[in-house]
Amino acid sequence: MSKNIMVAIDGYSSCGKSTLAKALAKELHFIYVDSGAMYRAVALYFLRNNIDLKDEHQIKEALNNVHLNFHSRDYQTHITLNDEEVSEEIRLMPVSDMVSAVAALHDVRVEMVRQQQRMGKSKNVVMDGRDIGTVVFPDAQVKFFMTADPKIRAERRYKELLPKNPEISLEDVFENLAHRDYQDTTRAESPLTRADDAIILDNTDLTPEEQLAFAISKVKPFLDNL
Ligand code: DC
Repeated sequence: MSKNIMVAIDGYSSCGKSTLAKALAKELHFIYVDSGAMYRAVALYFLRNNIDLKDEHQIKEALNNVHLNFHSRDYQTHITLNDEEVSEEIRLMPVSDMVSAVAALHDVRVEMVRQQQRMGKSKNVVMDGRDIGTVVFPDAQVKFFMTADPKIRAERRYKELLPKNPEISLEDVFENLAHRDYQDTTRAESPLTRADDAIILDNTDLTPEEQLAFAISKVKPFLDNL
């Protein structure tokens, strides 16, 4: 029986990971899993229920009450939190401001990693996040580590957020990204690092089409071997 293929895409916030992951999954007919959306949905639940991030008991109990589901339509992520569609709400600033703190919690990571590993078990998957190539699927056949100039990243995210958050400023977005980079790379639990065998993809000066062509060229040999 042929082995399923896992493509792991890790990197900093707003580096274009999800744009590339979606395009790649669409092109190759793979399943796309946005692991960041899972941490965001947990953060939303914690925010709504005033969970004390220092209280392990509350955290464990809250995690038992969080039921996440993905529905993929046209390779867009639709995520439900206890049967409520939250795909838009998880992108707003209140969640963005606290998600790194939630993603740093041991119990949260254990549960998310367990669910992610289950999703990638028997299917061809493109999964993006921070620890996919290092912790979730260290044996992934192809790993990308994405990076881009921080100013360009902030501008990209600002343009994305502006239509739904007219009050937002570029400075706010830049600061939020810098803060998240700091938290994601310095946390004790599974910090963002490049796997030794990950291919670095700096997309500061690359169009989405160029990134996709590059990524396909790296995955293609594995498809040919199926
Ligand atoms: O990719 P994103 O910005 O939607 O991720 C939201 C947060 O979740 C971000 O602070 C990093 C964290 N995250 C993580 O720790 N591990 C992952 N696999 C994915 C996201």
